[in-house]
Amino acid sequence: MSRLVSGFSKLSKTEKVNWLIKNHLSDYDGAENTLKQYWNSDQKLQQLHDEFIENTITNYYLPLGVAPNFVINDKVYTIPMTTEESSVVAAASKAAKFWQTRGGFKTTVISTNKIGQVHFTYTGDFKALESYFNAIKPQLIEDAKPITKNMEKRGGGILDIELRNKTNALDNYYQLHATFETLDAMGANFINSCLEQFAKTFTANAESTLPKPVNVIMSILSNYVPECLVRAEVSCKVEDLAEKDIDPNTFAEKFVQAVKIAEIEPYRAVTHNKGIMNGIDAVVLATGNDFRAIEAGVHAYAARNGQYSSLTHAKIENGVFTFWMEIPLALGTVGGLTNLHPLVKLALQVLDQPNAKTLMQIVAVAGLAQNFAALRSLTTTGIQEGHMKMHLMNILNQFEATPDEKLKIVDHFKTNIVTHSAVVEAIEKLRA
Ligand code: MEV
Repeated sequence: MSRLVSGFSKLSKTEKVNWLIKNHLSDYDGAENTLKQYWNSDQKLQQLHDEFIENTITNYYLPLGVAPNFVINDKVYTIPMTTEESSVVAAASKAAKFWQTRGGFKTTVISTNKIGQVHFTYTGDFKALESYFNAIKPQLIEDAKPITKNMEKRGGGILDIELRNKTNALDNYYQLHATFETLDAMGANFINSCLEQFAKTFTANAESTLPKPVNVIMSILSNYVPECLVRAEVSCKVEDLAEKDIDPNTFAEKFVQAVKIAEIEPYRAVTHNKGIMNGIDAVVLATGNDFRAIEAGVHAYAARNGQYSSLTHAKIENGVFTFWMEIPLALGTVGGLTNLHPLVKLALQVLDQPNAKTLMQIVAVAGLAQNFAALRSLTTTGIQEGHMKMHLMNILNQFEATPDEKLKIVDHFKTNIVTHSAVVEAIEKLRA
């Protein structure tokens, strides 16, 4: 109980660190040094990071890597990726290179609508509620004008507001279900501000019009965005899939079968889609977007038909192999971290300052490429060969291998299979 603390957020950063060490890290050797060695020596930059969240005590590094050679709609991209998983960037780069000589990736943005809802209860007659809604709808839009006018100038704004009767699913439950176009902004603040204004207008005027009160429960955007959809695709003649040691027909058939398994088997679909998210999250993070929102929306979409299923699909038709994915991605290239975090700004510059639609296409490609790389390994060599090669450096670092030891062991494993025990054995032998 002595760990309970009040007014913690008001302490200085050093006071917070001292409190943490005293209460949680007294047995952890060098805790202060570990925390402080990640503080940036540029105080202004450090302060920027401190102020992203409450109670910052240090910075948490993840690698920012790049995967070059992505040809998307005939333009070449180098894709920035932030991830801790050793094989992700290597796999992306490999897939990019593979498709670079086979026509590249083709993408299209299908739609860009986002959704927000005012959830409310009402115990009166539905007909009265419906005619009140129809009468007040222009006012809802009008009262939100101070929030929407800039977005409207740029071509976005509120697209529609519907009254939805959900009383079949939950007693007395209704929604104002609103659709928005937020252009290059992810739009969370814009949508939530509009919704809170709708709720105010809707309840204030209801008092004098409806026999029963409208009781607003909450107003919030939805991260389920099945109408903010992008498609990414690769395609080539089956015979062009040939590589050394890979028979193109066997490979194409096994690949399509692997995708079909993920379409019908949820245990496999979750891992299959996790591999897709390895690529998607890494680009979403590097470009300062909200990866939790993307994850939530994508997995809901994967289950939209009532059973969790593969996000990607593949077919062989008339000797042509096609592999594609349609995926909901609500992304922003303005606002949020995109204007603040120096590495996010840099990542967006590497991508030639994409607008949100272009970023949707790049992110979808990163996901499709990642899935291609995973299925290619899984259906040919098995996943461990590539994974363990990339994981080798982590094992060597666990054993604090010197640069010379690393060189020798990496060289040894060019012709030997990497397993944890084989690496340990090799280190011990070298050090003996
Ligand atoms: C590992 O992070 C991702 C994979 O398991 C994906 C897959 O199985 O398709 C390799």
